[in-house]
Amino acid sequence: MDAWLAQLRKIALNDQTPRLILIGATVVLFLVVIIDAFGARDRAVVSREAGGIARFTDDDSDVTVPSVYRVPRDFASESLREARLAQAEEETNGEGVDLPDEEEIAEAEDIAEAEAELEAEEEMAEAEAAEEEAAEAEAAEAEAAEAEAAEAEVAEAEATEEEAETAAEDSATEAAVAEDDLALLANADIANGESVWRQCRSCHVYDAERNQGGPHLVNIIGREVAIADGWRYSSALQDYDGVWTVEALLEWLENPDSYIPGNQMAFRGLRDEQDRIDVLGYLNENAQ
Ligand code: HEC
Repeated sequence: MDAWLAQLRKIALNDQTPRLILIGATVVLFLVVIIDAFGARDRAVVSREAGGIARFTDDDSDVTVPSVYRVPRDFASESLREARLAQAEEETNGEGVDLPDEEEIAEAEDIAEAEAELEAEEEMAEAEAAEEEAAEAEAAEAEAAEAEAAEAEVAEAEATEEEAETAAEDSATEAAVAEDDLALLANADIANGESVWRQCRSCHVYDAERNQGGPHLVNIIGREVAIADGWRYSSALQDYDGVWTVEALLEWLENPDSYIPGNQMAFRGLRDEQDRIDVLGYLNENAQ
């Protein structure tokens, strides 16, 4: 017997198995107590609610119930419900309680669905109507804008007509001269004109109002003599009262010194008449 005890003590001291079993059992016990506490709470809730029919529901979803207790609780609820139904039947003299059956529920669901559909349709129709309205408003605006533009155009056209009339009246002869004048450039060789222009471009710019070694020549044909902004003309040019017609330019370019004596354009002139016509044709072609 002593030997057996000694043997047992040895095992207990050296082998961990008994100790582990003990710990495991304690843990399981602990868990059971905790879970039972939950179950007790739930049972308390159920029994308290059983006191009043109105407050009783089968689905106490806000009560936390460990799954092990779910089944007994459900049994409890079920029997409670049955008991209450029996009681209610008694109270209504055996006529029974009218619980909604499946068909009725399905019907109610159908109705709800149909209503929802109707509502959605109505909403859609409303949205469509609003869209249409917006489109109409836009169209009306566009029309109004068009009408305005058309009016403005008419007014402009009238104005230009009037202007043209007065201008024609004022300078019928002048216009005729200008046309004849430009006709002098009818057979200008623009390509040759461009190469002749190379002799002028060290002093003149024709496509920007920028003075270089001479006044800029923007729109020189038909321009008054000596009016380029920011260029200090010689008194000879300043005193010369006239307009640069093609005819005048042709003479000026042939021999600047003899056309306006005392000018400061250091250029001996273009002896070839075709060169003069070509360079003026080039300038006319590129007039701004
Ligand atoms: C060396 C520079 C130089 C060259 C090259 C030159 N010009 Fe001039 N040009 C001038 C100057 C300077 C004046 C202003 C003269 C004055 O104020 O008396 C002038 C004036 C003019 C004017 C009168 C401008 C105005 O506002 O009334 C015309 C037109 C003109 N030049 C055309 C030409 C053409 C076309 C060429 C080339 C075939 C040319 N010039 C070559 C320097 C030059």
